[in-house]
Amino acid sequence: MLYVTKRVEFSAAHRLYNPELSDEQNEAIFDKCNNFYGHGHNYILEVTVAGVPDITTGYVIDLKRLKKLLMDEIIIKVDHKHLNFDVDFLKGIIPTVENLAIVFWRILEDKLPSGKLYKIKLFETENSFIEYFGEETEIKTFSNK
Ligand code: NI
Repeated sequence: MLYVTKRVEFSAAHRLYNPELSDEQNEAIFDKCNNFYGHGHNYILEVTVAGVPDITTGYVIDLKRLKKLLMDEIIIKVDHKHLNFDVDFLKGIIPTVENLAIVFWRILEDKLPSGKLYKIKLFETENSFIEYFGEETEIKTFSNK
């Protein structure tokens, strides 16, 4: 098995806030990330696909096609957007890096032209990132956001 990774970047604003909690509780939990008008990050998204090289092409996955998929399905929709307001597939979801990775996984997993989605690694800062391997995970969607 081989593991092929494409890295793409986007910049976006978000606010971490749970509408079911009080302002004081939100402030206590999310601190600076609860700032009313949001704040921004330069995110780095790394998507890893597992598979064996195709006999004809030698590719596990054509990285040009993987990049186009990432751009069309995710980056164009989140880059320079406010993740709490502007993105249909994030409506009502607290836009933590964890939840973003889970949503991105769900978007991508059935759309790969070859190979199998193996890992999503999402950096929110240079020193903070999460890794997700697609385990069944629940995300709560809040209706009043
Ligand atoms: Ni943040």
